[in-house]
Amino acid sequence: MPDTLTITDNRTGKTYEIPIQDGTIRAMDLRQIKVSDDDFGLMSYDPAFKNTACCRSAITLIDGERGILRYRGYPIEQLAEKSTFLEVSYLLLHGELPNKAQYDGWVDEITHHTYVHEFLKEAMRGFRYDAHPMGKLVSMLGALSTFYPESKKVRDPEVRKRHIIKAIAKMPTLAAWAYRHSLGQPYVYPDNELSYVGNFMAMLFKLAEPKYEPHPVLERALDVLFILHADHEQNCSANAMRSVGSSEADPYVSLAAASAALYGPLHGGANEAVLRMLQAIGSVDRIPEFIEGVKNGKGRLMGFGHRVYKNYDPRARVIKNLAHEVFEVTGKNPLLDIAVELEKIALEDEYFVKRRLYPNVDFYSGLIYQAMGFPTEMFPVLFAIPRTTGWLAQWQEMLTDPEQKIARPRQVYVGAGERDYVPMDARG
Ligand code: ACO
Repeated sequence: MPDTLTITDNRTGKTYEIPIQDGTIRAMDLRQIKVSDDDFGLMSYDPAFKNTACCRSAITLIDGERGILRYRGYPIEQLAEKSTFLEVSYLLLHGELPNKAQYDGWVDEITHHTYVHEFLKEAMRGFRYDAHPMGKLVSMLGALSTFYPESKKVRDPEVRKRHIIKAIAKMPTLAAWAYRHSLGQPYVYPDNELSYVGNFMAMLFKLAEPKYEPHPVLERALDVLFILHADHEQNCSANAMRSVGSSEADPYVSLAAASAALYGPLHGGANEAVLRMLQAIGSVDRIPEFIEGVKNGKGRLMGFGHRVYKNYDPRARVIKNLAHEVFEVTGKNPLLDIAVELEKIALEDEYFVKRRLYPNVDFYSGLIYQAMGFPTEMFPVLFAIPRTTGWLAQWQEMLTDPEQKIARPRQVYVGAGERDYVPMDARG
């Protein structure tokens, strides 16, 4: 059987044979389908990219029907159990797991680029005390671009590599400083003796103690959460990263754009929204009333549903188990009972079953973050730090793909036809 698609255009009676590769046809192959010589040619219309592959990617695989997530072929469950976040970053960016020397070199490089320019402290001072940390992070990423004009040479692999390392290394510092700024506490400088996550915790939580010692269970839990959030193929923020990066903008402004996309409550802002939702529900007995409200269109069950997963999000399962380990240290988050009951009721309810709505990564992550002492506004920031690796891997892949060009979608114009300008005093 040939791997082709035969299309008959009923407007003209003409037939076209279009190749099928990897389960896709090329949208450009449709352009030959015309009703006349001056016809532009057929386009596909796909608002929100629901059925359009925008790239060929070898980084992350999601099988949403079966609830599978793999980075470079490795199942997320195995990575969460056996790997570390920095090893996973290496894997995502390089395609293979590092050997010992490669791993040590990678950790060493990231560890030695964690400091940021002192002027950034001044820039941070410009924000009001109650500025949302995501707004600060987006701005600080844009500001970093001004410190590294060299990073504009996005076609130079050595320059790219240097700034990939810098961006991954500096994200925790910017994030922690955004947090300390909200508290009015002095910034804590990176401690190179700690792990990536341990150092982040120190920059967040260290007070007068001479040496901050992260709790090993919490340090590992945050590392696992970072692994789970490191990449998720072509989601809204990865698409923003690729799209902005395709104009050859430097990686820092592209990361600012990706972070801005992540900030929205339908994406990385969802874990914050979940917490607010659980707080608003307040007690288990009010869940049925809340569910009825959702079914009647009064808001969504946040942390449920996904564009790609039509099955249990595998990350949600890992996080649910992790929650118990964390709560043994921190004490149980009282909102957990509401979350567990809400999940149970929703998974049995016809509305959610019919629409194949399952918990996503954000349903339980906020509970862990809250138990660990993070304020709700920091949740999307905690997502942005590890996702920086994924964004950079996607960006690098886009830049090295000879088929990619500046991203420039088409439109179906539905506005007014040509008309003459009307002077203001003659308008109705
Ligand atoms: N609660 C109630 N109903 C929902 C929910 C939800 N969380 N999600 C989807 N639906 C319903 C929709 O109302 C729609 O119903 P209809 O067919 O009767 O109109 C149907 O399910 C399909 O929903 P869409 O909005 O078309 O699905 P889409 O793929 O566009 O949206 C999204 C996916 C944005 C994640 C959505 O499920 C949602 O808003 N979830 C809540 C926010 C959330 O948790 N986001 C985090 C996503 S994971 C991440 O970014 C890390």
